[in-house]
Amino acid sequence: MLKTEDLAAFADRLCAASAEAILPHFRTDLSVGNKEQGGFDPVTIADRAGETAIRELIEASYPGHGILGEEHGSVRLDAEHVWVLDPIDGTRAFICGLPTWGTLIGLNRHGKPVFGVMDQPYVAERFYGDGRSAWLSHRGTRRALKTRDCASLSDAIICTTHPGLFRGAERDIYQEIERTVRTARYGTDCYGYCMVASGQVDLVIETGLQPYDIVALAPIIEGAGGAVTNWSGGSPANGGQILATGDRRLHDQVLAMLAGAAA
Ligand code: IPD
Ligand code: CA
Ligand code: CA
Repeated sequence: MLKTEDLAAFADRLCAASAEAILPHFRTDLSVGNKEQGGFDPVTIADRAGETAIRELIEASYPGHGILGEEHGSVRLDAEHVWVLDPIDGTRAFICGLPTWGTLIGLNRHGKPVFGVMDQPYVAERFYGDGRSAWLSHRGTRRALKTRDCASLSDAIICTTHPGLFRGAERDIYQEIERTVRTARYGTDCYGYCMVASGQVDLVIETGLQPYDIVALAPIIEGAGGAVTNWSGGSPANGGQILATGDRRLHDQVLAMLAGAAA
């Protein structure tokens, strides 16, 4: 069994390597590729180089572990431990020069997210979690993360990356939820989830996620006392429609609303 302190130390090395590969490209005139025909799914040399740097260290230290990464595919997915990587979550923010992107490094054991880190090297914030505890490291200080109480949707602050990502029944229910909450904030990518863990935000609702968009974040939110599931209340490990909340009472309330559009 891998210990949290060893995983955190290893994740620090991974984050240092990815930051070294990514940061020289931030706020530069870099070329942006598109991975989606008929749409826009940006990718840059920073995304690819960041993931390459992380994978090299995992292969050297844990050659038996699997890896699932957004940019460079997957190996050994049947291994007990599988690292789940998104070198830049928030590439749209990255290419706009906004520091709201993050490097996501998650670890699944037997398909369950057991450890995760979100690293934002430009502002030097690193969020860690193992499902039982979560903490933030920032310029030499470390503090425990704790979600806040929020029992009612009408008191809640919601984040989502873009409301235009919801379709059909999903959109109708999302709009009803957004009309009920205190306020909504867009463009949040991985930061929205980390702000739930930090007790600044009460919920995130998203759809169309990939495993690498959420696996690293689940142990951080759960470790801070929150809940992360798909819209049916099941494991978030496969991505798809995701609900993250800081208060289980709010989670149950919102799951009941989302049920009509759950896949
Ligand atoms: C995006 C983020 C965002 C989600 C989008 C993803 P990317 O990831 O995870 O939260 O809503 O669907 O594409 O492409 O910036 O790594
Ligand atoms: Ca992502
Ligand atoms: Ca990405």
